[in-house]
Amino acid sequence: MKFFVDTADIDAIRELHDLGMVDGVTTNPSLIAKSGRDILEVTKEICELVDGPVSAEVVATETDAMLAEGRHLAKIAPNICVKLPLTWDGLRACKVLTDEGTKVNVTLCFSPNQALLAAKAGATYISPFIGRLDDIVLDGMDVIRDIREIYDNYGFETQILAASIRSANHMKEAALIGADVATAPPDVIRKMAAHPLTDAGLKAFLADAEKAGIKIV
Ligand code: E4P
Repeated sequence: MKFFVDTADIDAIRELHDLGMVDGVTTNPSLIAKSGRDILEVTKEICELVDGPVSAEVVATETDAMLAEGRHLAKIAPNICVKLPLTWDGLRACKVLTDEGTKVNVTLCFSPNQALLAAKAGATYISPFIGRLDDIVLDGMDVIRDIREIYDNYGFETQILAASIRSANHMKEAALIGADVATAPPDVIRKMAAHPLTDAGLKAFLADAEKAGIKIV
């Protein structure tokens, strides 16, 4: 499973990138707003830092305006992936941009039927939002599972990008189901390393090392 990092925080992206944990980046208008920076400027900087796809989201809601924004974003760098909402206008823009050779990430997907439409429109990625479904007491992972089955039934090449990931457990579940990509906030990726038995085991080893006076360099 590829790891995308869901942030516009350059320092956080750099830290994970240096560890080989970043196969791509996703942003959205809320994350750009949080960064306090100009969308074109910060997106360009992210594209220079990582080799993989960097999703940048349009803010227009009608197809023609989405296309104008999408084409403008696509000029930032060759690794831009234009992010479009899963509306009828978004699907129309997806088809046009895909035909022009631009990568498209269709976002705000909450159902297998929406994902089926995005695949038909040629999306490079579909982003089903796990956490936001869980928030309304539905099971976001069920949607990932259903999309996996539907895409595999027909050989759709659209990649499932599990989004709105809120926990390390979401990462594990998405990987078990076979999501192609998971995009997670930096903290969630860091938390994947945590285990209380690792901490307890290390504490015991270090205590024994101190008692025995073990020195390596
Ligand atoms: C990624 O593409 C999405 O914008 C993001 O994962 C949304 O996450 P949230 O539901 O935690 O805001």
